[in-house]
Amino acid sequence: MSVSTYISAEKIQERINEIAHLVDIDYNGEEVVVIGVLNGAFMFVSDLIRAMQTPVYLDFIAVSSYEGTESTGKLKMLKDIKVDVKDKHVLIIEDIVDTGLTITKLKALMLERGPKSLKLASLLHKPSRTEHKVDIDYLGFEIEDKFVIGYGLDFNGLYRELPYIGEYSAS
Ligand code: IMP
Repeated sequence: MSVSTYISAEKIQERINEIAHLVDIDYNGEEVVVIGVLNGAFMFVSDLIRAMQTPVYLDFIAVSSYEGTESTGKLKMLKDIKVDVKDKHVLIIEDIVDTGLTITKLKALMLERGPKSLKLASLLHKPSRTEHKVDIDYLGFEIEDKFVIGYGLDFNGLYRELPYIGEYSAS
């Protein structure tokens, strides 16, 4: 197997600084509940909130919309947030929007809880794979249909610690 750099650590940090600036303008000093989607988003969450000036209430959620490799179309809650988001600004932070299934279900679930506003930040998006169209308020990078790892993203639980996004190939 081999891993080649697809998006460098420097490029990621540059883009995060740009996104943080946009977030700060939009929330204008108001507190936001940041919901990081485990496990993949942990590194993006950590870097993005440190680059932001906006006051943050941080929580994490873990969901799965897959049983094995087949999409079930259902969201399985593995770990819910503890905070009540009613009448709060909520910013969901994802690692990657692939088919869009996970985030579509997650957004619907959060909307049922009555937030003041709901926005989404995703580091990566594979537009060619879209099955469920998702509005991404803050997007890091659009990428081609490649399997990527690193910077939080895994292959069978490995490679999350890489500081860059790499392209994985089995050969
Ligand atoms: P979706 O529901 O199809 O949008 O799937 C999103 C989830 O699939 C992400 O949160 C990742 O956990 C996983 N995923 C999709 N593409 C990749 C990839 O290229 N590398 C690692 N994980 C991925």
